[in-house]
Amino acid sequence: MSKRIGVVTGGGDCPGLNAVIRAVAKAAAKRSWECVGILGGYEGLLEPPQIKPLDYLSLSGLLTRGGTILGTANRGKFSAKVGHGESRSLPKELLDAVKAGMDTLGLFAVVSIGGDGSLSIAQQMFEHGVPVVGVPKTIDNDLEGTLFTFGFDSAVSCATDALDRLHTTAESHNRVMVLEVMGRYAGWIALWAGIAGGADVILIPEIPFSYDSVGAKILEREKLGKQFTLIIIAEGAREKDGAFVTSGAQTKTGEARLGGIGAVVGAEVEKRTGKESRVCVLGHLQRGGSPTTFDRALCSIFGATAVELVAAGDFGKMVAFTGDQIGAIKISDAIGKLKSVRPDGNLTRTARALGISLGD
Ligand code: F6P
Repeated sequence: MSKRIGVVTGGGDCPGLNAVIRAVAKAAAKRSWECVGILGGYEGLLEPPQIKPLDYLSLSGLLTRGGTILGTANRGKFSAKVGHGESRSLPKELLDAVKAGMDTLGLFAVVSIGGDGSLSIAQQMFEHGVPVVGVPKTIDNDLEGTLFTFGFDSAVSCATDALDRLHTTAESHNRVMVLEVMGRYAGWIALWAGIAGGADVILIPEIPFSYDSVGAKILEREKLGKQFTLIIIAEGAREKDGAFVTSGAQTKTGEARLGGIGAVVGAEVEKRTGKESRVCVLGHLQRGGSPTTFDRALCSIFGATAVELVAAGDFGKMVAFTGDQIGAIKISDAIGKLKSVRPDGNLTRTARALGISLGD
């Protein structure tokens, strides 16, 4: 019987999940291994296991297809995150059940595709003796140890396109347009898209803002003859000494659902400057659709490298983009901490050099 590995997707979806699944299955097939997809996140490993065979014909079209053909979950029995930076230990019986499910399926290893939450589960499985390799996924790009997670470039591209569109309508109406983007407690999406889309103001969680500063930028532009302003704001941005704005709802695991800061800023800016303002919340559009060219390539490299790690028996590792190469780091070094934007790093210095206000 040929050797068999499993691949599982966990947490929120993002563009490129299917491209990684495809790459893992193709690279496994090259080694004459069978590859099966675990359905519905880690719960698919529990008795009776829920799987999808990933044979040659099933992989057609996956490189460009959004979402995940395996389904995913960020709630339920395997929810390892309970809040910002906090994680929960999974019960031993659950980890035993994972092992039992793998035995039933004849899997000798699992490739786990996920962000901080899913990789925290992967780490606990590894510590429990499960041979697992991780692939870093999240549009937020907030995972330590890798310059880029896959899905991030696609989200930035979506936000940049939105800014381009808002630009023309802002200019036509002499308005302030506020674009709220995702990113949780990190400002990577807002900053990259803000620079790429020519925003005038970029507000991120790492640099608390003041309305005086934002208002001053709008009025400065007016004096220079520009009657409109484009503001991009991360959902986790907040005023100096202010609180995070949430939609009021909490996830089942207790994590706050961020959202709404764009509307708060739009209203306050209008009140203070007298400029007509409009707000656009990009939301889950950032997580849907096809991956960008960069993400397609990154997903393919990540998937193939994950299979190399499995072949080498290098378990407990996560593939990582370290700049000059795709390498691997311990999963334990990637989880439990947030990769934040450095307030004095290249990106923020670039923004400031271009005359973009960061609201401080
Ligand atoms: O982590 C990805 C992400 O899209 C965040 O940017 C956002 O805050 C969150 O997930 C939204 O989660 P949900 O889809 O559960 O509302």
